[in-house]
Amino acid sequence: MNNKITTLGGYIHEYQKSVSDPPAFWSTIAESFYWRKRFDKVLEWDFHKPEIKWFLNGKLNITENIFERNLFERQNQPAIIWEPNNPKDKEKVYTYGELYEEVKLFANMLLSKGIRKGDRVVIYLPMIPDLTIAMLACARIGAIHSVIFAGFSVQAVADRVKDAGAKMIITADSVYRGKKKTELKNIIDEALDNCDCESVKEVLVVKNTGEKVNFVEDRDIWLEDAKKGISADNRAEEMDSEDPLFILYTSGSTGKPKGLVHTTAGYMVFTSFSFKNIFQYSDGDVFFCTADIGWITGHSYIVYGPLLAGATTIMFEGSPTYPDAGRLWDIVDKYKVNQFYTAPTAIRALMGYGQKPFEGKALGSLKVLGTVGEPINEEAWHWYHDHVGKNRCPIVDTWWQTETGGIMISPLAGITPTKPSYATLPFPGIQPAILDKKGKEMNDNSVEGNLCIKYPWPGMARTVWGDHKRFKDTYFSTHKGYYFTGDGVKRDEDGYYRILGRVDDVINVSGHRLGTAEIENAINEHPLVVESAVVGYPHKVKGQGIYAFVFCQELSTGGIEGIKTSVRKGVDKIIGPIARPDEIRLVDGLPKTRSGKIMRRILRKIASGETDDFGDTTTLLDPDVVQRIIDNSCEKKYEVKEDKK
Ligand code: WTA
Repeated sequence: MNNKITTLGGYIHEYQKSVSDPPAFWSTIAESFYWRKRFDKVLEWDFHKPEIKWFLNGKLNITENIFERNLFERQNQPAIIWEPNNPKDKEKVYTYGELYEEVKLFANMLLSKGIRKGDRVVIYLPMIPDLTIAMLACARIGAIHSVIFAGFSVQAVADRVKDAGAKMIITADSVYRGKKKTELKNIIDEALDNCDCESVKEVLVVKNTGEKVNFVEDRDIWLEDAKKGISADNRAEEMDSEDPLFILYTSGSTGKPKGLVHTTAGYMVFTSFSFKNIFQYSDGDVFFCTADIGWITGHSYIVYGPLLAGATTIMFEGSPTYPDAGRLWDIVDKYKVNQFYTAPTAIRALMGYGQKPFEGKALGSLKVLGTVGEPINEEAWHWYHDHVGKNRCPIVDTWWQTETGGIMISPLAGITPTKPSYATLPFPGIQPAILDKKGKEMNDNSVEGNLCIKYPWPGMARTVWGDHKRFKDTYFSTHKGYYFTGDGVKRDEDGYYRILGRVDDVINVSGHRLGTAEIENAINEHPLVVESAVVGYPHKVKGQGIYAFVFCQELSTGGIEGIKTSVRKGVDKIIGPIARPDEIRLVDGLPKTRSGKIMRRILRKIASGETDDFGDTTTLLDPDVVQRIIDNSCEKKYEVKEDKK
């Protein structure tokens, strides 16, 4: 499979082709895949409905495009290199041939358990090879996988399992990341106790740490037992291009997370094509993405994109600072990594350790560096470029979203001239548009506004699981006829794009996408909390930190600190530690309009320490509340009471 752009002229040419005749452009790329039956039409779309269909009536299986199509050349080439949390443990390498056998056996095991095409299987696993194998096994039989990040806790898991109507859950006993242990099986037990998820018939448990877990009779089974006596002879299920491949939940500005649905053929074509071109992957290269597969970055650029392209992809179980801050560089040297892809938050965290972690590390194999998940500040960009890339590796700042399936705006490594903190230019096939507040598209350069996309691309999500109206309302209603991303953007005088961050109530904390409403709901579960408002604020390492303004009726014993600790614990339990507020301020009211809407704009300013100009506050029900929050008078009042006790 070629389809590789290698020069700037080539990019400009391909881009123009992709815009002047998108179906012809994508059809050529799709031709290089293996179809049981070729598609008979490239695209049907309507952003008003919305309805998007790519490669209509094509029949295929994505795993045949990973294995059967690649095997002839790659039988003995490593597909996955798994690096364990503890560097003293041994790595595992799966060649394409070995992975193929594992996936087929796992697929047959799922069939033996009654899992069929269209059934949903929740995968709640840490970064161990079984995670990838389980995903591919689902895809092989046409079951829809829904991976839940193993850092999510009880309520977050329960909500997702219930919404997806999962028939089976695949989990592990427990896992260590760094020194921290997470008891995954216990979380599943608690989640299933707390939700009426009758759909779940079976829980498969991977023996990972070997620690003791409780088993529920007739529901739970060890994976190793389930696999006993199962053959590895398996022919893949035939899927339609538009059959769902997976559901992945992501946070929005309101309510519960939504399950974005990605379908088979479009996602396959888009992830593979973008992977090869943006990272300029060449045969034999070793690719290392540090994301967790529980997020879209891991789905598209640890699993599907690289494996479809016949690449060698690293799966790292551990954390960048365990056992020390040189761990990622050890891995780069150990496997002679050529392309390295991470989040700005990791770069900023490692910057704090100075030069020592680089001692004795050559990093000479690196050719390309990538970032994703949040805007990268110039300081971090330069540090990455100078100290990791040794001034010779291009950086690809890749902008995209769970909803987009793959990278949308990004340099092509070594081809597009870069500019720190700019995602630069759209990938072929992507037609960005910047809209002003009134919804008018601005066609000039040097403009700022809402980032929209005005033409479909194969990798885009097709719906929200079980709630197509929500899909329409969230993405296709703000600007009619456009897909609205939720991000603000600037296009500079050269036509380069710079992402400015979310314009809604979604925050990117350490590269993790969270909704402020979800965090508020978790805080409000606390028995003493009346209501709360959560906003993001600039954080040196995390990009954005979580600031919670919490209105409590009264303080229990333990006082101010006691209540803050228990609020944090509650969030840990309900969503997971990734959503734990960095700052909590107890207040005796929130700035609300007369219609009861919280004016977050004001809280965002207070959280960022900008208290000089709040703009128009005349619509506030109780304007004095703003000053009381700034003065922290509520906490002070309680402190006085505490003193008197
Ligand atoms: C943000 C992650 C600036 C953006 C793949 C987007 C970025 C959200 C970048 C999606 C980037 C992602 N520069 N911001 N290079 N990449 N974002 O769904 O706000 O977890 O809307 O997908 O991350 O987060 P998600």
